[in-house]
Amino acid sequence: MSKIFLQIDGREVEAQEGMTILEAAKSVGIFIPTLCYHEKLEPYGACRICTVEAQTGGKTRLVAACVYPVEKNLVVKTRSEKVDKTRKILLEQFLAHAPDSPILQDLAHEYGANKGRFEKGPSFCILCGLCVRYCTEVKKKNAVGFGDRGIKREINFIPEIAAKECWNCKECFPLCPTSALQAAYLLTEGLAFPKPSSEPASER
Ligand code: SF4
Ligand code: FES
Repeated sequence: MSKIFLQIDGREVEAQEGMTILEAAKSVGIFIPTLCYHEKLEPYGACRICTVEAQTGGKTRLVAACVYPVEKNLVVKTRSEKVDKTRKILLEQFLAHAPDSPILQDLAHEYGANKGRFEKGPSFCILCGLCVRYCTEVKKKNAVGFGDRGIKREINFIPEIAAKECWNCKECFPLCPTSALQAAYLLTEGLAFPKPSSEPASER
């Protein structure tokens, strides 16, 4: 694999072809916030909290660092007025779903996000997909998928699988950026009151 040199926050960074901006930044200790990223999972690019400014060929764009590949001579800014504003608005939207999440509250403090800006959403889930993808990609169980549509979209545990697999696993609970307890509640509810149609994880 060939080496690629880029600049992140004014530092020259050596990366390997195929790495993402996030991986290159992490390799030299530069922090970029993430909510839907997990090193064991395929990049997903859902939450956009990892948005950074990337300048290439004279053009500057906002890109998701967890999916955007490094390029020769790319110039990246992990903080800027535009980046911070983007993260602030995203956090205000997420907080409308999960206002008590410590992870979201810490980020909100950092970016000056107001947790009351948007009306409370019907679901706690911010659709990061970590639980669904972890269950599919790492555990290979497909016990949790997305159900419902639009603003009501959230996770469902598939009762027939969850009853056999989940109580001895629960590895997805601590991954949830909103709160592990909410996932636990949904699992319990899903087993007690199974919904007839749950969308398999693979259809997400
Ligand atoms: S329940 Fe939590 S981990 Fe699962 S998709 Fe929703 S926010 Fe992400
Ligand atoms: S961490 Fe990059 S889009 Fe979610």
